[in-house]
Amino acid sequence: MSFENYSEISKGYDRRRKPIGVDVILGAVTRVMGGFSKRATVLDIGCGTGNYAKELSPYIKEIIGIEVNSKMIEEANNKGIENFKTYEGNISDLHKIVPEKCCDVVICTLPSLTFCARLFSGLVLHHLKDSVPPDYSGPSKVINDVYSVLNDKGAFIINTMGHHQLAEASAFFMLAPKRVQEIFQSKFPPINTLCRRLEEVGFKVHSVLPHCHKTECVMKNELHSNIEGPLNKEWIDATSVWSLATDEEIKSIQDKWREMINDGKAQEFFCKTEEARQKIGETTTILAYKGF
Ligand SMILES: C[S@@+](CC[C@H](N)C(=O)[O-])C[C@H]1O[C@@H](n2cnc3c(N)ncnc32)[C@H](O)[C@@H]1O
Repeated sequence: MSFENYSEISKGYDRRRKPIGVDVILGAVTRVMGGFSKRATVLDIGCGTGNYAKELSPYIKEIIGIEVNSKMIEEANNKGIENFKTYEGNISDLHKIVPEKCCDVVICTLPSLTFCARLFSGLVLHHLKDSVPPDYSGPSKVINDVYSVLNDKGAFIINTMGHHQLAEASAFFMLAPKRVQEIFQSKFPPINTLCRRLEEVGFKVHSVLPHCHKTECVMKNELHSNIEGPLNKEWIDATSVWSLATDEEIKSIQDKWREMINDGKAQEFFCKTEEARQKIGETTTILAYKGF
């Protein structure tokens, strides 16, 4: 079974998603550069449509994006961001694409690090050998490579989703079939595993920040808060989770969701998830420094 088809969803990606934690990234850039963020080179691994590049570019010298999907990179290039340079390639080959110590900050946002091994093994889930518990050797290799492409005082910023955030605060995950939830969750290295790997390589983990802000959610707000969301393709396409489900599974969940809307339980479910989201956040940013 193939996983998310980014070629297909590239066109609507920016309509459905927004970059989370840009302020945290800019704070780290400023710290690394001793206040002079305009001198910074940022590397965005798995840059997608360049949504982070668009937000960060006015404040830094240069942003380099690495992205494996040609359609996503096309969207990124179409943004016409002057100080944004893109490379089509796999982040598993990071050290072959960019030289050592070429950047000040590396960002990896949802969930390119998590899934790097998937693309490496040809988009086929059952070949996923190196992005599974407990080793997560795919993501671990990327962390090693990131260490070497960063300048001595650089920072690595990962935005990911904790298992508890998926299970308690992410409606799109909680509504997915159990079978799909299990596969999806197992691809996310637990946050403490990521932190351990970072420290083993030599990074100092400075902070682990859940995004609890009202508007810091994976989907754009109007989509996120639409009670009819799960009935619409736009909502289904907004995250990778449901691309693991069969058409029959999706239909059966949608039928159940319609019933839940009618008897008021859908609203109740959404309110409870939203309450959890604002307490524990839907995503977490890990901020690690190389030289501090
Ligand atoms: C969910 S999107 C995230 C895009 C962007 N970073 C964001 O936060 O909105 C994941 C992106 O990572 C890319 N990606 C996944 N694995 C990759 C790999 N091994 N090498 C390069 N890009 C990868 C996908 O093609 C996709 O564009």
